[in-house]
Amino acid sequence: MIDKTEIERIKQVIVEKLSSIHTLKRVQKINQLVDEIAGQEERETESLSSEEQVVTPWVVSGKIDHDKVIEKFGCKRIDESLIDRVERLTSRRAHVFLRRGFFYAHRDLDKILDCYESGKKFYLYTGRGPSSESLHLGHLIPFLFTKYLQEAFKVPVVIQITDDEKKIWKKLEKEETKRLGRENVKDIIACGFDASNTFIFSSYATVGGKFYENVVEIADCITVNKANSTFGFTGEVSTAKMIFPSLQAAPSFSSSFPHKLFPDEKKNIPCLIPCAIDQDPYFRLTRDVAPRLDFIKPALIESKFFPALRGNNGKMSASDANSAIYINDSAADIKKKINSAVTGGRDNLEDQKKYGANLKEDIPFQYLSFFLEDDAELEHIKKEYGEGRMTTGDVKKRLVQVVTEIVERHRMARAAVTDEMVDAFMTPRPLFE
Ligand code: TRP
Repeated sequence: MIDKTEIERIKQVIVEKLSSIHTLKRVQKINQLVDEIAGQEERETESLSSEEQVVTPWVVSGKIDHDKVIEKFGCKRIDESLIDRVERLTSRRAHVFLRRGFFYAHRDLDKILDCYESGKKFYLYTGRGPSSESLHLGHLIPFLFTKYLQEAFKVPVVIQITDDEKKIWKKLEKEETKRLGRENVKDIIACGFDASNTFIFSSYATVGGKFYENVVEIADCITVNKANSTFGFTGEVSTAKMIFPSLQAAPSFSSSFPHKLFPDEKKNIPCLIPCAIDQDPYFRLTRDVAPRLDFIKPALIESKFFPALRGNNGKMSASDANSAIYINDSAADIKKKINSAVTGGRDNLEDQKKYGANLKEDIPFQYLSFFLEDDAELEHIKKEYGEGRMTTGDVKKRLVQVVTEIVERHRMARAAVTDEMVDAFMTPRPLFE
């Protein structure tokens, strides 16, 4: 990659050599070309170095090394002392996703905790792009986690349904993304959010007023070169794709909410965003822009990717129904899918007893470590299965029980969500009361 000082040096040489014979306009043009070539170079190096591992908000592929993602993105790892501090401040055990390292990276989480400790409020912001009718277990994770944070810190939550994003990126019909959005809202409500302290909103329905003013301010700080290098955009992307990052950025700033959500005098309220690490590029850009607009940089708490049933390299994909467990799968489907998951168990009982299972490659064990709350039982399974005294069949059987129970519970909660409840959650109203 050409570094920035080198680019400036090249420009200066060109300007010096040519300014005597060219007009100012031409020199400006040359400068622009050098910038463009440098941007191109940055993109090329990026795609070369990440041939194996691609992580953008739209593409996650290759063998993902979560440590490398942190390093590349420049976020911090969540360490034990930070988890201890969360537990101390909230006077409760950290959520399993946090204490077992699934939410593993952050930006400024310590600052949010400082703010909370000094008695100041903050709010949580998360979202969902409605690309499918039914969610899979991986989709539920950020919402279950956000619900825990809301409960533990007693703070408001805003949830953006980016129906616009899926129209732009997935080429879904506008009306269809709105319909899917509303269906997804029911699943989100079923995660147990506090009705008096949660605002869910669709991008299409909400953008206007102060929100749009902020979108324009944000978009005005982002050059095409910056968008290209952050997202790997090329000249072929539509300008709708260029503007969307500002729409996802706006809810990170409390002043975007015109709806008396946040009282005026508390204009600049700190924001914490729970999300999967692939969303980091959006918020890296948001954080870059914030100081220029006198806004507080949003803090982030970021998760790894939820593994597909077909193994750590596989992606959970809508076109392969067996790659994930959907929350409308029947008990029989769940059993069938778990039984065909990739495992780290040995080929025969004899080898299993001798060598034990390879837990790193074992999807049923990994799923248990997300969903089995009981630490002692998980530890027991880890030891027994890892040392060969337990079989893959035993572990799968336990996982089927745990997942079926979660899915069943969710299904019942969702069935109880009425249209009136959806409307109530989506009605702007004061949250800081
Ligand atoms: N882009 C996200 C998706 O495709 C949706 C989203 C919008 C989001 N705002 C967010 C996710 C904030 C996490 C945090 O699903």
